[in-house]
Amino acid sequence: MARKVYIFDTTMRDGEQTAGVTLTFNEKLELARQLANLNVDVIEAGFPFSSPGDFKAVEAIAEQIKGPIICALARALPQDIDRAYEALRKAEKPRIHTFISTSDIQIKHQLRKTREEVLEMAVSAVKRAKSYVTDVEFSAMDATRSDWDFLCTIFEAAIKAGATVINIPDTVGYTLPSEFYELVKYVIENTKGIDDVIVSVHCHNDLGLATANSLAAIEAGATQVECTVNGIGERAGNAALEEVVMIIDTRKDRIDAFTDINISEIARTSKLVSRLTGVYVQPNKAIVGENAFAHQSGIHQDAVLKERTTFEIIDPKKIGFIESKIVLGKLSGRHALKTRLEELGYFLNEEDLNKAFQRFKELADRKKEITDRDLEAIVSADVKVPSEHFKLSYIQVTTGNRVIPTATVALEKNGQSFISSSTGDGPVDAAYRAIDNITGFKCRLQNFSVQAVTSGQDALGEVQVQLDIEGISVTGRGISTDIVESSVRAYVNAINRYLTIIKQAEEQDNG
Ligand code: KIV
Ligand code: ZN
Repeated sequence: MARKVYIFDTTMRDGEQTAGVTLTFNEKLELARQLANLNVDVIEAGFPFSSPGDFKAVEAIAEQIKGPIICALARALPQDIDRAYEALRKAEKPRIHTFISTSDIQIKHQLRKTREEVLEMAVSAVKRAKSYVTDVEFSAMDATRSDWDFLCTIFEAAIKAGATVINIPDTVGYTLPSEFYELVKYVIENTKGIDDVIVSVHCHNDLGLATANSLAAIEAGATQVECTVNGIGERAGNAALEEVVMIIDTRKDRIDAFTDINISEIARTSKLVSRLTGVYVQPNKAIVGENAFAHQSGIHQDAVLKERTTFEIIDPKKIGFIESKIVLGKLSGRHALKTRLEELGYFLNEEDLNKAFQRFKELADRKKEITDRDLEAIVSADVKVPSEHFKLSYIQVTTGNRVIPTATVALEKNGQSFISSSTGDGPVDAAYRAIDNITGFKCRLQNFSVQAVTSGQDALGEVQVQLDIEGISVTGRGISTDIVESSVRAYVNAINRYLTIIKQAEEQDNG
């Protein structure tokens, strides 16, 4: 009989460890709601001991999100476990996930301990967690570079101490599918008590093998896969949820397993994660990339038109990519906009709909046809921004190859108008300096990228920036048919995100 594979989503924990990604409190709640719609089995909501912000987010998710198990990460230390439990107290189904390194290289150089000490710490951590909750996961960090017999010993001890899930992470993304298959099988065959617990795997993508390794583990008997939406995560990321789920679904002829994921929510979740984290999905990314269902070759196009399955192994509609039936333009009204946004999964309140409509009209004056991608960009970058502290009123630039680039920027905040001018190395640099004069922040531009959201001469350009503001890394996105304007909107968006994060930290400090 087909086996259920539990999907453990760690987008909010390991995914948030992606360089430059910081989610605000509200963004984490929005994402948790969508993960519940996607029907993941477990949401790893954060690492409560690591920061007050993480604690608050886990606490709120535990209280508000019903359905999935809500999990909190803790090192194998009493203070971490206590904090994890405090955050999870109100969860309907809480899980504490505790971990410790088990490879000799990490035991010696990172922990400066012995295997015996690690074993003892693991057992007392599991026992402490078990005194709080019934569901306890134990992870042997760097399992794939650990001694296999030591792994079995520590897992056996963790199970005896009360662990309900044992996790085998490929922390540094080092293993190969055939090798991981053998390791998982070895652990299953040589660990007493393992039949009564869930066997989980957690694969990183340093060699591009995270999904393949997760699949090999399922074939060897693993029953839980830890993964992130769009494969984001520490360094090269984690196994991509959508890939693992769609492989199991598409190849059920070979893989005797299923998941309970609501597959039609995959596209929407992927877009949400990309919007909230500011991490683009590469166009050729399997399942959710822009080109994943685009047929370029004439022969393929012809065949797909005759019979879709000739060159398409997944129906894009099945994972929630919908085709537009209405073409929006200058003459479209609020109702048409609202209807289309709702078809795309954006249910805006009155105020946000007004903002979206205003931006839509501005854009429709400059662009003949407004596509779904344009609408998504409007909602992502201009409507659903965290509490708008600074608003762009106008920008004017003078540039050319024989003049010093100069920009004048006007911003609005709390009904007050601020204006500043500056010169710079180029028009964007000049505008950024003018904004810095207004905000008084020292922003260091760490990353700047531009991409066309839609094609054609009147295409929208989307700019993404990563700024370091007073030691905090934030991303921002902006769109417009004018690249300088997109750049300014992205910069202002990043500053607003910074202000939201600071405000939340202050609120948390004040209790
Ligand atoms: O990669 C890893 O080993 C982890 C553990 C905390 C499970 O993220
Ligand atoms: Zn990890």
